[in-house]
Amino acid sequence: MTIRVRLTALSVAGAAALGLLAAPAIAAPPRPDTADRVEVFGHRGASGYRPEHTLASYELAARMGADYIEPDLVSTKDGVLVARHENEIGGTTDVAAHPEFADRKTTKVIDGVEMTGWFTEDFTLAELKTLRATERIPDIRPNNTIYNGRFEVPTFQEVLDLRARLSRELGRDIGVAPETKHPSYFAKLGLALEPGVVKALNDNGLNRSNAKVVVQSFEVGNLKELNRSLRVELVQLISNTGAPQDFIEAGDPRTYADLVKPEGLREIASYADVIGPDTKVILPVNSDGYLTEPTTVVADAHQAGLKVVPYTVRAENTFLPADFQSSAEPAAYGDVLGFFHALFDQDIDGIFSDFPDIAVLARDEHAAAAGR
Ligand code: G3P
Ligand code: CA
Repeated sequence: MTIRVRLTALSVAGAAALGLLAAPAIAAPPRPDTADRVEVFGHRGASGYRPEHTLASYELAARMGADYIEPDLVSTKDGVLVARHENEIGGTTDVAAHPEFADRKTTKVIDGVEMTGWFTEDFTLAELKTLRATERIPDIRPNNTIYNGRFEVPTFQEVLDLRARLSRELGRDIGVAPETKHPSYFAKLGLALEPGVVKALNDNGLNRSNAKVVVQSFEVGNLKELNRSLRVELVQLISNTGAPQDFIEAGDPRTYADLVKPEGLREIASYADVIGPDTKVILPVNSDGYLTEPTTVVADAHQAGLKVVPYTVRAENTFLPADFQSSAEPAAYGDVLGFFHALFDQDIDGIFSDFPDIAVLARDEHAAAAGR
């Protein structure tokens, strides 16, 4: 294993200003990987171009060059893992237009947040398969609405089947990065997500240390549990606010901010391989939305032996730091390439993006500029 030092001239200056060049980051122990390039994770597929979490979105991401496709996972009533960002499906399917399911509309509290809508755990897979995906943010991505009503909600197995087919067709191993969504919530319903994840990876020959698979969670307890069953890499997701839901429910006072301190990172390294922080954990913004000084989280994580794969880069102004916005028009593209490069200057190991094609371009530009 070798230590990668990917500082450009710009980031060398920035690192020197922060005192990082003399810090342990440079003398850190070898990282757990040898790949010498930033890996691109197609966030919810290529969700900048297709309704998220559809096979069409994942396939486009792979064809655009994504190293990994990323299905978020929730459970149906009959215990089947399906790809949705949350269990409430009114925002990403046409369920509201199905009168036969009108009486399923209800109000629940999910991880402390009251939500009204339709929930996957109240639908069998057969029922869910009668629905079709719709664009989550039609105001920002109106072009994607032409695909509304066309694509099913895929099962995790269908995503793995797609991964296998595209790996053969494209001649490269397409990675998959499943995320367990609301694991404590589903466990309390008797629909724990983890057994299904382990079974699916076992059944598909993917529970091995060299499989191109990483399993993610915003919670801690289920990653520790998965670490006992899985040989693949695990990703501790890190929000820029709040605390893991299982910590909250157990009365553990630690927050995500605590987890990215050196002691917290050392604990994460005992059960996971990667942290997946919000980009703001790496590049904070001020109250006006402009970037401030980078944190030391990347260097600290590397020192702990963890890779760093932040989320999520999107091209539209509304999602970019003010430094990179092109106008006040929320849906117009800003200087997203500039934002990618600012993140790559921080020596990150991968990036989640709704726009994998732009991420690949920026990644390759950055590598070329660094002479790699
Ligand atoms: O898994 C990385 C990123 O996807 C986490 O955020 O909310 O988009 O799943 P979210
Ligand atoms: Ca995710």
